[in-house]
Amino acid sequence: MKFLPVSAESLEMAAQILIQGGLVAFPTETVYGLGADAFNPQALAKVFEVKERPAFDPLIIHIASAETLDKVADLSLLSGKMREKLFLLIKNFWAGPLSIVLPKNKNIPDIATAGLSTAAIRMPDNEAALKLISISGGAVAAPSANPFGSLSPTKAEHVRVKLGNKIDMILNGGQTKIGLESTVLDLSGDKIKLLRPGGVPKEAIEKLIGPIDDTSVTEPKHSGGKTSPGQLESHYAPKKALSVFEREEIIRQPFQTDGAFLFYDNSAKNEWLETQSQRLPKTAIIKVLSETGSAQEAASRLFETLHKLEYFNITHISAQLAPNEGLGIAINDRLKRGSLSPAARPAAL
Ligand code: TXA
Ligand code: MG
Repeated sequence: MKFLPVSAESLEMAAQILIQGGLVAFPTETVYGLGADAFNPQALAKVFEVKERPAFDPLIIHIASAETLDKVADLSLLSGKMREKLFLLIKNFWAGPLSIVLPKNKNIPDIATAGLSTAAIRMPDNEAALKLISISGGAVAAPSANPFGSLSPTKAEHVRVKLGNKIDMILNGGQTKIGLESTVLDLSGDKIKLLRPGGVPKEAIEKLIGPIDDTSVTEPKHSGGKTSPGQLESHYAPKKALSVFEREEIIRQPFQTDGAFLFYDNSAKNEWLETQSQRLPKTAIIKVLSETGSAQEAASRLFETLHKLEYFNITHISAQLAPNEGLGIAINDRLKRGSLSPAARPAAL
């Protein structure tokens, strides 16, 4: 396995690997992706195998320019009105953390979309990713580069630890900027639907194109219809039992030596410290996602911090939920899913 920093040569090498049907992990602005040539079914099959990803969970197709869109999607199946909204979204949010579900072009193999007639497509806002995609054939299918159900990687090192022996190359582009996966928005039906909260907040989308339907995110069990097939409840699980609390709840939780605390901001942490009857040991593991309570900073540190907590000698993590707006909605989505994982559930339940 090659582990190389991003450079003109390593990008060329990575492109050759993709063209020959190999797998390359590469940085995007959200999380690291595990890339394969989107038109090569054998390479795509390897992605599912390496990630141990269920075959019903479709991949996101990454492109490097809006002109490539016609090669991966079939826009003739969209109404004129929907097409207008699509172009507005592309103009405002690409390159960026917005995946758009569209009728798929028949050149995209069924395995990429898990047999669906639609494909999720995005243009990542990362120079190395864009270059790699454009010199390797124009469309790279890439799920997050982590084993299915575990934490998404925000550093090349996270990929090396979990998948290093199973893939051909890791391009090291440092820490990812946003740190949370893209928002998934479905434009393939009559109504525009939010399928996964992510890097582009719902409010920003609605400001541009009007109200969207987010019931598959807010009431996944009752939406009665389509949600993102990958939005399984137990996604994004850290190896420790994770419990989530609103601000006013977490400040009442007592410290325990076998647990870590993950605060959203300093104000909650300080209030919690004041309520503790005992002096905390020096070894207490207390993390803060953003001292000042910036949702952007908190999002960029979330997975990174959870990755670190996996290595401490603790059994559980108590985490504070973010204010439920903007990027905070995506942060809370990941935290709540992590807390629902069967592996992370306390044995007594
Ligand atoms: O930020 C991201 O989106 C990262 C980077 C690498 O681009 N990728 C990522 O991929 O998070 P993955 O595979 O971990 O998540 C893809 C999500 C899943 O929830 C999947 O179900 C959904 O997108 N998805 C993909 N194709 C879809 C489709 N045709 N219809 C509905 N949902 C789809
Ligand atoms: Mg993922």
